[in-house]
Amino acid sequence: MTNSSQDESGVAVARSVVDLRARIADWRAAGARIALVPTMGALHAGHISLVEEAKQRADRIVMSIFVNQMQFAPNEDLSSYPRRFEEDAEKFAAAGGDLIFAPDVGEIYPEGFATTVTVAGPASVGLEDKFRPTHFAGVATVVAKLLNQCRPDVAIFGEKDYQQLKVIMRMARDLDFETEIVGAPTLREPDGLAMSSRNLYLSPDERERAPLLHEALKRCAAALRGGVKITSVQAAALEELEAAGFSVDYIEARHAETLAPVTRLGDGLVRLLAAARLGTTRLIDNIAV
Ligand code: PAF
Repeated sequence: MTNSSQDESGVAVARSVVDLRARIADWRAAGARIALVPTMGALHAGHISLVEEAKQRADRIVMSIFVNQMQFAPNEDLSSYPRRFEEDAEKFAAAGGDLIFAPDVGEIYPEGFATTVTVAGPASVGLEDKFRPTHFAGVATVVAKLLNQCRPDVAIFGEKDYQQLKVIMRMARDLDFETEIVGAPTLREPDGLAMSSRNLYLSPDERERAPLLHEALKRCAAALRGGVKITSVQAAALEELEAAGFSVDYIEARHAETLAPVTRLGDGLVRLLAAARLGTTRLIDNIAV
């Protein structure tokens, strides 16, 4: 038996690690495979596609919902980040999920908390890390905790945050986590915009222009495949996006595994990654070449 309560949606909710572990122990005793889908809430169809992926790989699906303060810089959107627990619980229940782990800040970062996971490799390649220097240490620390708390067989992360996915895969290998880390494809709006909880910040005018980021990436990929030099492709995309009112942080062709810079397509599997601000909203996206 466990102390986890039930939300109005009917889905079980654990607020403490003790409750989470008790529930998982019951499932394990019955021989179930467990999947974890870590999120910060404000669920959209992209998150639900991660749940669907999890259901292919496990019998019981746990979703964590925790807005992790440690991965936000002081100038970022921690206080305005959308929090909509009831809606999230309904969506997760409708998707066939089993348990939400929704700890409060004190459960994750108790008084005296003093440990940070330091990450390098794909976490220090001059992409997101250049613009958000403390971000991946915050992500790695909370994900390491969630993996230890839940000890799932598999954990699913979206390819939308491609660098994050590679950082987590590297960390899991380096620190011998037994959990298999799986990346799931980005879900897009009909006009191509990658789904993100932060799309809620876009004004109607910005929302109309936002799909240009994905279009620019697609044009870059086609040009690269057609033999155009990476530097020319990058310069054209930058010009195009800036002309449409984006402020571009980066648009880069990288090795799909290491995220090291590539100079030619023949250097291995290539991934195009971009980040740009539209008004106050920062959008990121990536595609395979
Ligand atoms: O991708 C996210 O939503 C977050 O970075 C994660 C992995 C849940 C860690 O807080």
